[in-house]
Amino acid sequence: MFQYVTVFALFLCGINSQTVREGKCPDVPVQENFSLIKFAGAWYEAERSPIEFEEGGSCTTHTLTPVSKVTYHEVISQLLRESGQTRLIDGTATLSGKLDEAKFTVNLNIGPQSRTTPYFILETDNNKYASMWSCSQIDANSYAEFAIIMTRSRNPSKKILKKARNVYDRNNISRNEFKKVDQNNC
Ligand SMILES: *[C@@H]1O[C@H](CO)[C@@H](O)[C@H](O)[C@H]1NC(C)=O
Ligand SMILES: *[C@@H]1O[C@H](CO)[C@@H](O)[C@H](O)[C@H]1NC(C)=O
Repeated sequence: MFQYVTVFALFLCGINSQTVREGKCPDVPVQENFSLIKFAGAWYEAERSPIEFEEGGSCTTHTLTPVSKVTYHEVISQLLRESGQTRLIDGTATLSGKLDEAKFTVNLNIGPQSRTTPYFILETDNNKYASMWSCSQIDANSYAEFAIIMTRSRNPSKKILKKARNVYDRNNISRNEFKKVDQNNC
């Protein structure tokens, strides 16, 4: 039986506060034949589970610009509605395995320290959707995970969302904590 708690501000091992579960990070297959070039560009967040440093933001986009064969410069942009300000977080996403393996190590510049997080692209067609997932082992008996459904369109069709959600369901990754990301009036 899985037990989980959503923990905010969990800095153990540089893990930034996600959904914590018992056990070991499951071994989940990633997109085959991944291409850094094809996956580059702008992605809109459609749905995601809690991510502490993104809370309070809407209209979230991730822009990936290749800076080498293995690395993107990544910019996360969010609108903070109350102030009307834009929050920008940037960093790098570097392939952590083979060149065509959709596994990244992401270093984001957040506040004074940078944070390192694994990002796995479980499935993408490069031009409509991407089902992203992150999992970090905290200790022998617990792990932290989060997931983001990213789309090329700010208003993806139901069909596209269904396809992206199905990737998690098929791999037994819970979507219980998923929430729609507000992409209206951006
Ligand atoms: C990946 O590439 C191999 C070799 O070109 C091909 O056989 C396979 O069908 C491809 N898989 C996907 C998911 O595109
Ligand atoms: C998902 O869970 C079901 C039921 O527990 C199991 O039969 C199936 O093998 C699991 N699939 C994966 C990919 O772990």
